[in-house]
Amino acid sequence: MITGKYPNLRLRRNRKQPWIRRLTQENMLSPDDFILPIFLIDGKNKKEKIKSMSDVYRYSIDRIGQIIDKAIKLGIPMVALFPKTSEKLKNEIGTEALNEKNLVCRAIVEIKKRYKNEIGIMCDVALDPYTSHGHDGLIKSNTIVNDETIEVLVNQSLLQAEMGCDVLAPSDMMDGRIGKIRKALDKENFKQVQILSYAAKYASSFYGPFRDAVGSNKFLKGDKKTYQMDFRNSDEALREIALDIKEGADMVMVKPGMPYLDIIKGIKDKFKIPVFAYQVSGEYSLLATAIEKKILNKDAVYESLMAFKRAGANAIVSYYADRLDKILK
Ligand code: PBG
Repeated sequence: MITGKYPNLRLRRNRKQPWIRRLTQENMLSPDDFILPIFLIDGKNKKEKIKSMSDVYRYSIDRIGQIIDKAIKLGIPMVALFPKTSEKLKNEIGTEALNEKNLVCRAIVEIKKRYKNEIGIMCDVALDPYTSHGHDGLIKSNTIVNDETIEVLVNQSLLQAEMGCDVLAPSDMMDGRIGKIRKALDKENFKQVQILSYAAKYASSFYGPFRDAVGSNKFLKGDKKTYQMDFRNSDEALREIALDIKEGADMVMVKPGMPYLDIIKGIKDKFKIPVFAYQVSGEYSLLATAIEKKILNKDAVYESLMAFKRAGANAIVSYYADRLDKILK
């Protein structure tokens, strides 16, 4: 690979000016690479700050136009919707997930009505915003039960598809759910609805601020280690991905992002499938706080995002996506 040696070979020559650095750059970022998460809240005319995530807000449905307009103007292809379900609507079995008037359903209908196919909509498939215990599935005798949970997830998927969701993103990590969801979608003639599987989702401490944003933090009992992946493992991620591809996933997600770049690269090298990365809430808050306190300069954001492209990600879910005009310059 190395074709010469010092002093006739000097790698610094290709770095001497911005124009040559631009010519030889190996990776690029554009708005096409981004998915913007949006937090939803009940009520009217609300744009609410989130304590653990500076410059990120929860929007009531009558105000989501503000953020969707911005996403479209920036050229972002898709948004991801996350509800902060009011406490009184939460219960043991997450019934609200199947209510066609729940926050996510109403938001999908509203966005599709106003924007048609100008922007894609992605929705989580999981029960944690709706359960009183904060887990992604149903609990029986202190266990998150797999197969019974899938039955609910299938119905949640069908409901979101019916409302007009473009991309279903199961983030629950139950075994076998992708196949069951695909089968049900096809049977009900939602053949064009895509599945973006959170196939390699780790039990991570980096989700803390998100759980605060959707209000599940104070409810969560225990951890999610019996269903989300063990962060000591990487071969296992490849097995998860292989299974979800076989079951019909159109795209796969790795989550969290930056601490898991090796997983993104491993998947990209092995499976030729679109791989998305989620720069999760904890990564966001770390950066945002350090920048706020002037510990880091704001170019750290661009650098953190470029790392995903270098690792092989096709797209990035990032809470910075609504500020791309400033970040990508
Ligand atoms: C829920 C879900 C989580 C995130 C996205 N969907 C949290 C969790 O699994 O506890 C985390 C996103 C983030 O931290 O930004 N299934």
